[in-house]
Amino acid sequence: MHCVRQIADRVFWVGANERRLHLFENLFPIPQGVSYNSYLLLEEQTVLFDTVDRAVGDQFLANVAHVLQGRALDYLIVNHMEPDHCAIIERLVSLYPGLKLVCTAKAAQMLAQFFTFDPAPHLHIVKEGDKLKVGATELTFVMAPMVHWPEVMVTFDSLRGILYAADAFGTFGALGGNIFNDELDIRGEWLGEYRRYYTNIVGKYGVPVRNLLKKAAGLSIKMICPLHGPIWRNDFAYILDKYAHWAAYEPEEQGTLVVYASMYGNLENAANIFAQRLAEAGAPRVTVRDVSSTDVSYLVAESFRYSSLALFAPSYNAGLYPAMQHFLLDLKALGLSNRTVALVEGGSWAMSAGKEMRAILETMKGISIVDSCSIMSSLHENSLGELMRVKDSLFAAIAPADTTAIAK
Ligand code: FEO
Repeated sequence: MHCVRQIADRVFWVGANERRLHLFENLFPIPQGVSYNSYLLLEEQTVLFDTVDRAVGDQFLANVAHVLQGRALDYLIVNHMEPDHCAIIERLVSLYPGLKLVCTAKAAQMLAQFFTFDPAPHLHIVKEGDKLKVGATELTFVMAPMVHWPEVMVTFDSLRGILYAADAFGTFGALGGNIFNDELDIRGEWLGEYRRYYTNIVGKYGVPVRNLLKKAAGLSIKMICPLHGPIWRNDFAYILDKYAHWAAYEPEEQGTLVVYASMYGNLENAANIFAQRLAEAGAPRVTVRDVSSTDVSYLVAESFRYSSLALFAPSYNAGLYPAMQHFLLDLKALGLSNRTVALVEGGSWAMSAGKEMRAILETMKGISIVDSCSIMSSLHENSLGELMRVKDSLFAAIAPADTTAIAK
């Protein structure tokens, strides 16, 4: 049975929600599910914007058939060829043999890579600024390579001011009837998932995202239709500001993420004391996370959110505790930059964690390591002094000059 919603004059959401999948990309936990958005425009010709993941294909095809009411499907705009959005193309082509596939040249290559049908008779290749007139609607194609794959474009409907934004401005989280941003608690309930989605999926591609933001600034946008999550129909400045920070690798706010690895609780104890004393000194928004029990995608998102990091890790096999190593290599791969960092290593004989953490962080742009110390086995009065020195160094680096005097 169909499940659709009209979102604008002659435009319908025909996507589907997925709540049974545990890991998006078989990698990222999605406890609130995910939506695969697709949109259908009924003009003199019919135009579909992207498809959905294979898992929800039957629901999607029922939605499309319902809105078409027996009409043929004339155009499929392929903004993005990742399988969570393109998986149903071959089924659509077999259902609607006259379908034109409007896409970039790179997407056309990928069509042949992903599917077994011959896309050539269906192709309508477009490039930057090309337009397609369908009835009263004029669609303009804007290239957006590496947001988040090389073939990506976005499509602008100038009649309605709708930007079909591909992965941009999307989020994890299934839709539950309320489909527009102003029907939902974006700032309270959704922002964390917007951040986690962006930083982990698109985080590496800050420069291409900034290029797209510049292009989008020249469009008269009244609605943003992403491929995942709520549709934006107002409050654009809020999400654009978040994107501007994330894409520039600038923190959203002053704060410290304390991430510890602890095999037997000793470094956990040190991390808790460090965090408490840092907060007592006046540092804002100090947050403590266990690297072993917190999925790395949440740690990545919080690293993008805050201005500084304090990392506690044991030495392990003459190297670095694996969970911390994974976290730091993920931050490096995603391009995190411009952060202030304090390091604390632990061990009972040959210390190696600090050197390994430093080796990774020093290859990252704009990372300032303000201080570090070692804790032999567990925290004692002598090592507490060193830990408090590291805390003071971090506080001095992150606090406004006129508040450093209250550091304890
Ligand atoms: Fe939702 Fe890059 O695909």
